[in-house]
Amino acid sequence: MIGKLFSRLTATVRESQIWNSIFRHGPPDTPRNQMLAVASNVFLHLHPSKVRKSGIELRYTWCMGGLSFFVFIVEVITGLLLMFYYRQTIQFAYVDVMDMRESLPLGIMREIHRWGAHTMVIVVWLHMLRVFMTGSYKPPREFNWVIGVILLVLTLLLSFTGYLLPWDQLAIWAITVGSNMAAATPLVGVEGPLASKMIIPGLGNLGDIAMVNASDDARFGLIAGHFVGEGALLRFYVLHCVFIPFIAVILMAVHFWRVRKDGGISGPM
Ligand code: HEM
Repeated sequence: MIGKLFSRLTATVRESQIWNSIFRHGPPDTPRNQMLAVASNVFLHLHPSKVRKSGIELRYTWCMGGLSFFVFIVEVITGLLLMFYYRQTIQFAYVDVMDMRESLPLGIMREIHRWGAHTMVIVVWLHMLRVFMTGSYKPPREFNWVIGVILLVLTLLLSFTGYLLPWDQLAIWAITVGSNMAAATPLVGVEGPLASKMIIPGLGNLGDIAMVNASDDARFGLIAGHFVGEGALLRFYVLHCVFIPFIAVILMAVHFWRVRKDGGISGPM
């Protein structure tokens, strides 16, 4: 009785104009309809219509690519919630983070965000390890490997820029050490190799050119000053919340698109 009612209800929904305007194929019970179901769905069409079963087995992929994306989404959601409360000035940053601990819903969001950041770094490394171990960087996937390397750098930069935001002693000194390394960047760091060969147009009093110096090198550009202060906090906040995630999302779209165009996940040799 209930079964009959249910199948009649399903048939009515399937024949309705609303259903047919969204799903433009029959139930996925034939190879043709299964193919159409994948190809006409905005999320599923990221996969090729047919994939090798062996290629999507857990012991092959470790699901690390999917997990990297999942943790990234968790970071975006918890990060957006934290943005409602956190103020990126040296007057408020530390107290805001401490106050969040008093409030249960925000406190847990902050912990998830912090642990999620550590998790994402580990999971992305493991994904890269699996891609390397299965030789999935070989043609035709070498371009996607390069996109992956940039995604890895962006993941590390997200972690680095987020580290300053709590504005505690650990954050300030860690970023001081980290940003000092930027001063040793070849060509663009004042203490780096070939620094004396670098010429910055439009600066200094030697006509239109000057050698790179501590006020216009990579470190200065990163922390907006000679030491980690208000300017660095604002710069890291914008990089962490807007600039790097924006580029990461675009590159992830290209990464997934390439997985599809390269014939899906590689599969065991
Ligand atoms: C935010 C970081 C990343 C995300 C969200 C991500 C996501 C994914 C997903 C979902 C897949 C398909 C499923 C899988 O193989 O597990 C994949 C495949 C792939 N990824 Fe990543 N990835 C990231 C970083 C990287 C890195 C760091 C590398 C290497 C340097 C890389 C190289 C590749 C390659 C070559 C494939 C194709 C693998 C194959 O066909 O077997 N990805 N990625």
